[in-house]
Amino acid sequence: MKVHFRIRRFNPERDPHPYWADYHIEADPFDRVLDGLHHIKWYLDGSLALRRSCAHGICGSDAMLINGRNRLACKVLIRDVGRRITVEPLRGLPVIKDLVVDMEPFFAQYRAVMPYLINHDPPPARERRQSPEERARFEDTTKCILCAACTTSCPIYWADGEYVGPAAIVNAHRFIFDSRDQAAAERLTILAQRSGVFRCRTVFNCTDACPRGIQVTRAIQEVKRALLGRL
Ligand code: SF4
Ligand code: FES
Repeated sequence: MKVHFRIRRFNPERDPHPYWADYHIEADPFDRVLDGLHHIKWYLDGSLALRRSCAHGICGSDAMLINGRNRLACKVLIRDVGRRITVEPLRGLPVIKDLVVDMEPFFAQYRAVMPYLINHDPPPARERRQSPEERARFEDTTKCILCAACTTSCPIYWADGEYVGPAAIVNAHRFIFDSRDQAAAERLTILAQRSGVFRCRTVFNCTDACPRGIQVTRAIQEVKRALLGRL
């Protein structure tokens, strides 16, 4: 089938403004959007910049706006988005070139919530035990691959880049509700700040955008409730 790609391109070192570039390729309906982008880059225009690594929905590096929705290019089949496909970089992060955005503000917000296990007890001889029920408490938020699709689909984040964003809250949730962790109070204090969890207006864009099916809005609500519970 013939497929028309419209790609938002911008080289800040050269272009005064972003612009749309059009590419027409022959593709199989079961090709992924990433395959189409590869074809364009490898055979039509080597100057196109995009980021990807695993090509199997695991690394989270190829999140982009596909036909107006944040998706992983490696997880979207061409037959599911049609013959005319628009591709844009994620919103709310500075464009480095074409589809490559600067992820550093996103990772700075992720690091700010201390996304690692904190336990001051002496390490046990074997593992830190946990019941299946305790493990289930944060199962959903362990699935995050840090693709930024949630945070960059959030209108609050677009308007206020100081907002810590859904992905950071998801990763705080993963440790706040881990029975082995001892720093929930510190994380909740961080998330109680003006840039924290109460900036969320429950728009649900984040949940729609998540390629891992994480109930992002629910995780945010659970963190809000944990904060309200300690007042
Ligand atoms: S919560 Fe989902 S959308 Fe957000 S960064 Fe993690 S995997 Fe991506
Ligand atoms: S390239 Fe790794 S998730 Fe798509």
